[in-house]
Amino acid sequence: MALDNATIAAKPFLQTLVGQERPTSPPVWLMRQAGRYLPEYREIRAQAGSFLNLCYNPELAAEVTLQPIRRYGFDAAILFSDILVVPDALGQLVTFQEGEGPKLQRLETPADIGKLSQAWMDQRLQPVYETVEILAGTLPPDVALIGFAGAPWTVATYMIEGGSSRDFHRVKLWAMQDPDSFQDLIDLLVSATADYLLEQIARGAETVQLFDSWAGIHSEPEFRRWVIEPAKAIVKRIRAKHQDIPIIGFPRGGSMMLEAYAAETGVTALGLDTTVPPEWAAKVLQPKLPVQGNLDPLALIAGGDVLDRMTDAVLNGLGHGRFIFNLGHGIDKSTPPDHVERLVDRIRAFRG
Ligand code: CP3
Repeated sequence: MALDNATIAAKPFLQTLVGQERPTSPPVWLMRQAGRYLPEYREIRAQAGSFLNLCYNPELAAEVTLQPIRRYGFDAAILFSDILVVPDALGQLVTFQEGEGPKLQRLETPADIGKLSQAWMDQRLQPVYETVEILAGTLPPDVALIGFAGAPWTVATYMIEGGSSRDFHRVKLWAMQDPDSFQDLIDLLVSATADYLLEQIARGAETVQLFDSWAGIHSEPEFRRWVIEPAKAIVKRIRAKHQDIPIIGFPRGGSMMLEAYAAETGVTALGLDTTVPPEWAAKVLQPKLPVQGNLDPLALIAGGDVLDRMTDAVLNGLGHGRFIFNLGHGIDKSTPPDHVERLVDRIRAFRG
């Protein structure tokens, strides 16, 4: 797939990322825009049985991807799947328990890394690629399709911790004490992630986002080795085939390393978490590349004047340059759906 000028011109989201001009009000989508805060999602989710069944059911996954587009008219749809389908497809046991989050049969030794394989990956992920194809054929002409994957470091934290973690001691210690075998895992994930994103692009994704949700827990050398280097390698592999496909990097918590991440990975745009001051980003990052973010997801629960005030702070700070409105992290499941409507109306009324 190559992005032609007519496609870019028709989609404000793509225009902002790679176009010549920028729309007057910023395009908007929200991380985790398909999910449990929507009653129509909970209905399909119950039908599907397990969460992974939903990820691997192309018709249902396409349907839940489209739900927030219908409700709010977002400028981009993000493929419905999860970052943990990659370890699942590499042969690690992954389950999602109701109310408990993901559980993985955790990697304990270098030999466990050796048991993972890319051999069945393509077959296991076919349903996800079919979802992308369905979406590419059904989205409204002004809505862009975002593919995604977890970045190697973040995916490795789940693989080694066996699920979500409070302190990341196991994975950080492994990387410190045996960096060679940890590098083997990261290399495998770089290769698998690049293949996975390339196939999403081949099936119709117009941009891809790399989620590095736990990028913010490193010292500088570790950030360079486990966050910047893998992202750079993935960008390089995608660019070798698709020079013009925009890539959004989201190194959450990247803080003082954001400039280095932006300069060295080669990403097209940078996702900002809630802690990044908009005025700083406007001055330091935005002249170099488009940015995306970064309203606190909790403002969407608060609603009312609090929501308006916090929305305006983001719009006034970033809305005069190349900017995609988003949250600083995923939308929370207790968000009232009508607060999202209020947010979208306010963004649409802004003139940057
Ligand atoms: O709408 C979208 O954004 C697309 C779908 C999407 C999901 N997960 C669906 C999902 C995307 C892009 C993700 C990314 C993801 N998954 C990340 C990176 C972003 C982030 O939030 O930091 C991470 C770390 C995961 C791993 C993951 N998946 C966890 C920790 C959990 C449990 C936490 C929770 O919210 O329950 C999930 C489950 C998950 N992924 C749900 C959804 C809609 C909820 C599960 C359900 O519906 O039963």
